[in-house]
Amino acid sequence: RRIDIFKSLEENEVESLSQRITQRQFKTGDSIVKKDDPGESMYIVLEGLLFVYADLEGDGTTTTRVGKLIPGDFFGEMSLLTGEPRSATVEAATDTIVYEITRSDIEDLLAQRPKIANRITQVVAQRRVSNLKTRDNLSHEEHHEETKNFADQLLGKMRGFFKGLGIDRKASCRERV
Ligand code: CMP
Repeated sequence: RRIDIFKSLEENEVESLSQRITQRQFKTGDSIVKKDDPGESMYIVLEGLLFVYADLEGDGTTTTRVGKLIPGDFFGEMSLLTGEPRSATVEAATDTIVYEITRSDIEDLLAQRPKIANRITQVVAQRRVSNLKTRDNLSHEEHHEETKNFADQLLGKMRGFFKGLGIDRKASCRERV
């Protein structure tokens, strides 16, 4: 209930999601996801602080800290939604508790609640562009434009990836909230 993207869910939807997801604990220094690994789960931070490290230059040697995650934040959504390998490594900076949500746990919900998929997509686009901005020093306008382009591209990819699940305009019209 405290998690922003799930705030609009009804009681029975929260109930069914909470029965499916798995709580996991990590120690300081553990990597929860590793760059380039395949990934079918996303995670929600329940307790702790995590850092996100990306190889912005793509040279395989330089890693930059691009983000930090605190309780209520989610990560791992990029691979879950697009089928692409992990774009970054996420490491526990303190002892951490997360909820793991697999693609099969959430796909029905995403089909029924396209607003959640859209919100996650926005965050994905913001993160990608923020990483680009860190690398390329983009101006404010370029940042805005890139975020919009990425969000549009991602929605296209997600529709392909979740084909048949109804993440489309019709589904948006059916949404209750
Ligand atoms: P994914 O690519 O599946 O795995 C690595 C995760 O790191 C990615 O999903 C995002 O959830 C997260 N991530 C990438 N860049 C950032 C960023 N700039 N800020 C916060 N999280 C990020």
